[in-house]
Parts: sequence; C-alpha cells; structure tokens
Amino acid sequence: MPGYPVLPEGLAYGGDYNPEQWPEEVWREDVRLMREAGVNLVTVGVFNWGLIEPREGEYDFSRLDRILDLLHSAGVYADLATPTSSPPTWFRRRYPGSRLVDREGHVLGGGSRHSFCPSSPDYAAASERIVAALAARYAGHPALAMWHVHNEYGWANAHCYCPASAEAFRAWLRDRYGDVGALNAAWGTTFWGLTYGSFEEVEPPVTAPVGLLTGLQLDFMRFSVDAHIACFRRERETIRRFSDLPVTTNFMIPNCKPMDYWRWAAEVDVVANDHYLDSARADPHIELAMAADLTRSVAGGRPWMLMEHSTGAVNWQPRNLAKRPGEMRRNTLAHVARGSDSAMFFQWRASRYGAEKFHSAMVPHAGTDSRIWRDVVALGADLGRLAGVRGARVTAEVAVVWDWESYWALEFEWRPSADLRFRERIEAYYEALWREHVTVDFVHPSADLSPYRLVVAPSSYLIGEAPAKNLHRYVEAGGHLLVSYFSGIVDENDTIHPGPYPGALREVLGVAVEEFHPLRGHETVALRPPKSSGPESSKHGATGRIWSERVRLAGARAVHEFADGPDAGHPAVTRHDLGAGSAWYVSTALDAESGLRALVAGVLDHAGVSRPRGLPDTLELVRRGDHLFLINHADAPVTVDGVTGTGVLDGAAYGGSATVPAGGVVVVRT
Ligand code: GLA
Repeated sequence: MPGYPVLPEGLAYGGDYNPEQWPEEVWREDVRLMREAGVNLVTVGVFNWGLIEPREGEYDFSRLDRILDLLHSAGVYADLATPTSSPPTWFRRRYPGSRLVDREGHVLGGGSRHSFCPSSPDYAAASERIVAALAARYAGHPALAMWHVHNEYGWANAHCYCPASAEAFRAWLRDRYGDVGALNAAWGTTFWGLTYGSFEEVEPPVTAPVGLLTGLQLDFMRFSVDAHIACFRRERETIRRFSDLPVTTNFMIPNCKPMDYWRWAAEVDVVANDHYLDSARADPHIELAMAADLTRSVAGGRPWMLMEHSTGAVNWQPRNLAKRPGEMRRNTLAHVARGSDSAMFFQWRASRYGAEKFHSAMVPHAGTDSRIWRDVVALGADLGRLAGVRGARVTAEVAVVWDWESYWALEFEWRPSADLRFRERIEAYYEALWREHVTVDFVHPSADLSPYRLVVAPSSYLIGEAPAKNLHRYVEAGGHLLVSYFSGIVDENDTIHPGPYPGALREVLGVAVEEFHPLRGHETVALRPPKSSGPESSKHGATGRIWSERVRLAGARAVHEFADGPDAGHPAVTRHDLGAGSAWYVSTALDAESGLRALVAGVLDHAGVSRPRGLPDTLELVRRGDHLFLINHADAPVTVDGVTGTGVLDGAAYGGSATVPAGGVVVVRT
C-alpha cells in the first residue's frame, strides 16, 4: 500500500480546513491554534474547483500555494483534496448535459454541490483536467501527506436517470450479460410479459405506475456503484501519474446505503470514513461503534482513518443536539479503539456562510473561550499519548454478516411487511452483542469465516448459492451460526430460491417455513419453552414483534415456541446441530430486553466466545493490540477488575482493577 501510514509518527489529528472562506490574517491565527491543539493533518481544497479554475482552462493556484506553504511552515501536513464533488458554476452552464436527473425526471439545480451526473463524459473530461493540473502542481509539495479524492461519493447523486446515464447503464448491461436473453433469464422477465427484445429497450428504473422488476432495480444499483468507482479510478490514476502518496476518498459507512463499500475497499490505499452521531437515538454511541467496526472490516482489519466527525452539533438533522461534556472525547476514542489511526473533524473553523453555518467545528463561532475549544486542545493531548496504538489490530471472535446487495433488495417495494428493514435487525443483534462487551467484525457472506467462533446473520434476505454453501461448510467445520427470520429467501437476482423458505439456508438451519405471518404494527407474540425443553430454553418471558411464521422442524429442534399469535404451539427459536457446529434460527423480532440479550448470551456461551462478566452494559470495552479501552457511557463510575498495566491517558499504574469515572475513558496498556 503506497505510503501508509500517512504521517511519520503518531495518530493524525485535524479536520477539513476551508481558509478560502476567511481573510488571510485569520489563517495565521489558524495555524497558531492548530499547533496549540496538536493538529498535524488538515484536509484542504475540498470545494475549491470554482476558485482554482475560475473560468474553463484558466487556473489560479495563488491562494492554495500560500495555504500549503503556510501549513508546511507550521509543521501541519495537508491531505490535499480534489475539488470534483462541487463543479464550478460555469461548468453547469456550459455543459447542461451533465446535470443530475432524479427518478421523477426533475433536472436538479445548481447553487449546491454534488450536482452532476457521474456518467457524464463532459464531467469526466473536466474533472480529469482539474485533477491533472492540481497533481502536477502539488505532487512534490513538502506539506502533502496524502490525496483525498472528491468528497463522499454517492451521497447526494448516487443515482442519475439522465440520457447519458441510461446509455451507460445499457453498455454496462451488455457487458454483464452479453446477450439480452441472459438478462431476461436473470431478471425473470416472463413476469408481466416484460421480456426485452434488445438492450436498447432497457430504461433505468424511473418512477413507474406500479412495482418495477426487482432485477432491473438491483442491477441499476450495481451499475451506479460502478459509475462512481469509475470516477474515482479516473482521478486516482491521474494523480498516480505525478505522485506516489496514498490516495483515498471519504466513505460514509454505514449511512450511504447506495454505495457497496465491500466493492469500494479495494480501490483506496487507506480506508477513510465520515461518521456523525444520530442524535435522535437513545444510545447513539452504539451505532457509532457499529459504524467503526464495519469500517474496520471494510478495511480488511487494517487501520483506517476517521476523516470526519463532529465536535458538537451537525446542521442537517431535524434537531441538532450539541454533544454533552465528555461526549466528543468518548466518541473520538471509541473510533480509535475500533481501529482508526486518525481523528479528523468536519471542520476546523465554523463557517459563516451558506448551508452549514450552524455546524459545529474545532474553532466554534464563540472562539477559543469556549468548552469546545478547551476540549479540542485536551483531545489533542490525549491523542498524543495514544501514539503507541498506531497500527495495532483489533481481533474479534464474532462476525455479523453485512451485504449491501441484501440491504438494497430487502427494501424494494412490496415485501411481506413494511417493518422488514435491513438495519433494524442488524442493529438489534449488534446492540445485544455490544451490551455483552463482545467486539465484532462484519463480513460478506462469502468471506473466510474460519477465524470466528460465531457468525450472526440478522438480515441476509438475499444470499446466493455460493455464500450459502460457505455458511454451511463453516457450521459443518465447527462454527456456530445464528440467523434471524426472512434470511436466505432470494438469490443474487432477487429470485426466490426453489422450495420452502428459507431456501438457501434450509439445510444448514434444519427448518422449513411454510408461511409467513407478519404481525400488525403494535402486535406482539409471547415465547415459551417447548414441551420437551432442554437447558438452553430455561429463559422465560421473551416477546416478539414484527414477525411470526410457521416453522417446521427438518433436523433442528425447538428451543422456544410461540405461546400465542398465529403460530402458537409451533417453533419460534430452533437449533440444528450439524457436523461439528450448530445453526440457530430465530423467527421473530426479539429486542435486547425482550429476550434477545438472553438468547445471544446463551449462543455466545454455547460457541465458547470469551467476554468479561458482571460489568454494566453501559461500559464499552475494546482491546486494540495491547491497549485496553474502557469507555464509560453512564453517569456513575465503574470499577473493572482484572486490569493491570499503565494508564495511557492518566499515567496511573493499574494493579488489578481500574475505575472509570462517570462519562470518562481509561486506556490501559497491558
Ligand atoms: C459531510 C461532508 C462535509 C460536511 C459534513 C457536515 O460529511 O463531507 O463536507 O458537509 O457532512 O456534517
């Protein structure tokens, strides 16, 4: 991997730096403050296209020259961005064919960023020219540490339905299927007699009167990922003509559903991610932990970069909650604990203009006499003390299956219940594991599963034959598998696997499902031990939501049965001992406190997954290399036994136990 890690030592600390929004005297204060806070890397030039190419083919790099020189003189490295996510105003006027068109056929407006079609040949040519000019000018600049291509591919323009996109989609289909007969077979176009006579007849899935072919929709999602990856590759290869420094782009894991980041991961020299707290959640730090674990997994376990997060409120949620005292520190250190070698923010200095003026920053509008600034300085000191964690790995005994194609397909229209949402079940199982203090990796279902004692598949609606066999072999070889309902239903074309549900997973689970019985919005079903109950069914009081179904045992045995509802007296949770392993199936939506936590704990025990016992479920505990991170999300201190080593943040000597203050973080090098 060229040039990784990106800095000569320590963790990277900084953020998006947009000095072009400020007069030059402010820049001098900026670098002084960066030094005070320990900032060593800033992302510059992200939205500079219109400033460095004010008229087509006319360049003005004078301001960027001065900025990079100033950063270098202050010892701050630059993560130099290509400005291609925000084409200049002249570009849009000059090349109207490059404008983004939405599903309803609206041509989307300018006066904003991301307003271009990723398949536009004019955009391709213009973006390649500006990237070449930028790379030629700055490749040897001593401030440069890395290249930051574009900004958040697929965030606002994931899908374009303009004529150029339609043409590119047809070319992509020709490439994938060779002849239209193969496309018809894959999409099952005998349905409604929608058989295509030629590729020319295929249109992108624009808004239609009723349900669209789901194969068409899936392939358009795949095509759109490729269209954005092609844009990235074009820029990366252009940079490579001039520079060997690492090249990345900032992902939005897991909050950019249209981008398949398993596919993206291979394209970048270092995985970088942006993450913002969803302040409407009761425990947003659990979703943060999930995002960080998924990012590390996308990075193949290698260290990754947190490219953006926030010091306080964002500006784009319905209610933008400020972080409470200590929350920013806990958030940042949780990302580091889960594999990030950097802590970067959007943004360095709060903007006065435009759409994001109410977004927090490292230097807030209030200036340096503020809690945020004091916390930013303190965080810089913490990160300095954590330099030794750089490069260290996180290992996990449990993996959760995550497949973007399954995410897309599950959420197309006309599923058995509107309550079937991909992230709903993943997050429920992730939360149960988090509260059990279990660190997890995420995996594609075709990945090597042998490192894991337990694999959890909470939302594997779409699963092809080969990945299903992979899970089967994993169990036979001694692995343990826990699957939630409505998994294994369709193949990679969204075609139902033949026979009773869950087709692809029927054999490994040892069950056959005759009929789905989705529940009404507020309906619940009770679970009870079956008549012939074994020891693992001793937990009573489990309650299911959303789903019930008629499960027939075909090799498995019942661990719980439904006590009421449409499937009263029939299996609700099953276990199938197969080869040297076991496969468990849960046919309703249990939540952490309504039975899922107990069930997960039982399966973890059965699989022999090691974890600490007796700790409050508000304590986050993660080991990264020889660093043990203890992050206390509760309002009371917690004492953790069995901790011996040196406190990295506080310098304390821990001999047997560590007390983590309310809302505090202790990191012990063991
Ligand atoms: C994204 C973008 C930034 C900024 C932030 C605001 O992550 O990359 O430019 O808009 O969101 O939260």
